[in-house]
Amino acid sequence: MTDTLLTYSSDPQGMVAGSDLPIDKMPEIRSLRPEALTDYVGQRETVETLSIAIQAARNRNEPLDHVIFHGPPGLGKTTLAHIIAAEMGGRLTVTAGPALEKGGDLIGILTHLEEGDVLFVDEIHRTPRVVEEFLYPAMEDFAVDFVFDKGIHARSHRYRLKPFTLVGATTRVGSLSAPLRDRFGIFRSLNFYGEADLVRIATRSAMLLDVAMDGPGAEELARRSRGTPRIVNRLLKRVRDYAQVRGDGRVSLGTVQAALALEGIDRQGLTDLDRRYLATIITFYDGGPVGIEAIAATLQEETDTLVDVVEPYLLKIGFLIRTSSGRKASAAAYDHLKQSRKDASCR
Ligand SMILES: Nc1ncnc2c1ncn2[C@@H]1O[C@H](COP(=O)(O)OP(=O)(O)OP(=O)(O)O)[C@@H](O)[C@H]1O
Ligand SMILES: [Mg+2]
Repeated sequence: MTDTLLTYSSDPQGMVAGSDLPIDKMPEIRSLRPEALTDYVGQRETVETLSIAIQAARNRNEPLDHVIFHGPPGLGKTTLAHIIAAEMGGRLTVTAGPALEKGGDLIGILTHLEEGDVLFVDEIHRTPRVVEEFLYPAMEDFAVDFVFDKGIHARSHRYRLKPFTLVGATTRVGSLSAPLRDRFGIFRSLNFYGEADLVRIATRSAMLLDVAMDGPGAEELARRSRGTPRIVNRLLKRVRDYAQVRGDGRVSLGTVQAALALEGIDRQGLTDLDRRYLATIITFYDGGPVGIEAIAATLQEETDTLVDVVEPYLLKIGFLIRTSSGRKASAAAYDHLKQSRKDASCR
């Protein structure tokens, strides 16, 4: 079970399971990931909902209602699960839907939870149905039902669990079964971040990484990060390397442009895969409408990657249109690809 489960204690001296590093040396966990709700940038309504619910639950000395976060990768779902555990003063246990193959995998985890602990289930929509059925009584009554024997001899025994909070994360809200969805008291969708929030995240991360960055540099990074905190942090590290080796160590407009051109990230922050996706619709399928399976086959990419990673941002910026007969590229997508090719040929 070790590979299905990670337990983080709120003790800073604690170790991270499956790693030789103490928690405070895990770079993503300790340094760039905000640890308190007040350090969490943006998503104002979600933060407000959580802060009210957390305060109320603490006053009543009860566990927080079960929470589910929905949204594209890298927007801060896992980060919020860590923050909830820290704010509630409980331990966080981390697992993921696909890692829970049998009912026993989940029961083993549930029976080890202490009162007030948070169980984080990432990709909860990929939990097998047989396992999901154990979640219903666990969430509703803090109990698991064991069934012994079969047929007319079947007997069931109810095992009490300690009151805990389940935090689920999903990129596909449509794949969640209704009975599971209805058992969450708090349901929040995370949105792509605006430029101002990404500038704040980049500035905070630059400070933590001890990198000098000026305003125009931060704004350019924010513009090219597809509205996503994980991407802004990743690109900041690439630009930091570039600035150290090719520049004076400072992250400025010029170093961001030069470093990201090398990474194949264009002015809008689109990656090579984003552009190949749009170019496929435009050149192979005459602008669409075309089904996702056909695009995936042409690109030789997984459909899931396209649906979860590529499409949400292209839809958000209006480059992609989804119709009942398939995907279409918008006029803005045509213009952007032309411009992007021109930019690339000028280099
Ligand atoms: N609101 C925020 N403020 C500051 N930093 C953030 C915020 N949200 C996310 N981050 C940063 O972005 C990184 C990615 O966030 P996180 O791992 O929580 O995303 P996720 O939604 O769980 O993604 P996935 O769906 O891929 O698991 C974090 O390590 C953190 O450093
Ligand atoms: Mg995550």
